[in-house]
Amino acid sequence: MSMLSKKEFAARRRELMDQMEPNSIAIVPAAPARTRSRDTEYPYRQDSDFFYLSGFPEPEAVLVLIPGRPHGEYVLFCRERDRAMEIWNGFRAGPEGAVKDFGADDAFPIGDLDEILPGLIEGRERVYYQMGRDAEFDRHVMNWVNTIRAKVRSGAHPPGEFIALDHLLHDMRLFKSPAEIKVMQKAADITANAHLRAMEKCRPGMMEFQLEAEFLHEFSREGSRFPAYSSIVGGGANACVLHYIDNDCELKDGDLVLIDAGAEYQHYAADITRTFPVNGKFSREQRALYDVVLKAQLAAIRAVKPGNHWNEPHEAALKELVKGLVELGLLQGKVDELIASEAYRRFYMHRTGHWLGMDVHDVGDYKVGDEWRVLEPGMVLTVEPGLYVAADDDTVDSKWRGIGIRIEDDVLVTEKGRKILTAAAPKDPDEIEALMAKVKPKRKKKAA
Ligand code: GLY
Ligand code: MN
Ligand code: MN
Repeated sequence: MSMLSKKEFAARRRELMDQMEPNSIAIVPAAPARTRSRDTEYPYRQDSDFFYLSGFPEPEAVLVLIPGRPHGEYVLFCRERDRAMEIWNGFRAGPEGAVKDFGADDAFPIGDLDEILPGLIEGRERVYYQMGRDAEFDRHVMNWVNTIRAKVRSGAHPPGEFIALDHLLHDMRLFKSPAEIKVMQKAADITANAHLRAMEKCRPGMMEFQLEAEFLHEFSREGSRFPAYSSIVGGGANACVLHYIDNDCELKDGDLVLIDAGAEYQHYAADITRTFPVNGKFSREQRALYDVVLKAQLAAIRAVKPGNHWNEPHEAALKELVKGLVELGLLQGKVDELIASEAYRRFYMHRTGHWLGMDVHDVGDYKVGDEWRVLEPGMVLTVEPGLYVAADDDTVDSKWRGIGIRIEDDVLVTEKGRKILTAAAPKDPDEIEALMAKVKPKRKKKAA
């Protein structure tokens, strides 16, 4: 059951159409199905923009919005019903279902696109379209326009202007409605529980992919059939590989494990990272670095509030990270100068977050002109500072080497400040140790 009503989708289309210039048309294609090997496909994931406006889950579809069109403003092209195909591959809505169940004013078979769409474009001054994302579809769009151009001598009016659709649409997606926030909270809750489960199940000697399996299990049984992105489960120095997804090493006693994993629920992502000791107890060095990252993360979260700009959480985190690195002797010098010279980049080479929504690295501008974007209620972002000491970094004492830590939460900007959607995933190191000690199986005494 979709948590988003038909009304919500209709309101989005209305809002977009109200912002379009007069006498215009918007064209948004569905995502193609993609081959995984020979004749098997990846599980289908609808394009986020297309789904945002339609709620329509099938491939081979094109959404067309024509504000003010008397015969209907919302036209959907989709696959026809086909008994044989449906027996093999599953249900299709067909043009009838597109109208009845998905709110289209008018719907046509996708096979009629070349025949019908030029007629819908003809006479419209402007075409809103995301050029350059899908080369094959770009070619179709140009062909349709050229079909009209070829008929100018018979009085046809080709469009005079192409406008990037993403500015309008992605700004809408940046602000989450109350209903969207509920879906994101559900994705966050599922993910937080999965991180808890991983802390409970983790034992030295397990493989990283076995811990990953705990996430897939927990996600799937809660209705999140697929993660929002490939899970990162990195034991020891693997945590220093930022996009580590091999997940095929053994988790060793004495190492930390960094897990960056998030559920996708009804097309909305969660994105949580937790780092904890494989054996349930932080070493002195691990704990010292962890405390620095946690302090930085809490400072960054405090900087998430309306009126602050996008970069303020990053700046707050950076200050704490560099201060901590100096205190522990991993960097030498003055905090401000080390920040200005970017000397910290050896240990912290990514930014502190990104927008979060239907895509894990969600759409929306980070700057308006030359200025950082100001945070406003309804925006959701991640806060994810980390520290990574490469295993071969011989500029630091060997005791620090091969430790990688990141702590990541999903934060909603509210009127009063912020709400941490992922607060249910433990990150306090004492709490993590207590939790892991509680579930650790009692060691059996060896028989004498
Ligand atoms: N999981 C991707 C990220 O944290 O940005
Ligand atoms: Mn992230
Ligand atoms: Mn992440």
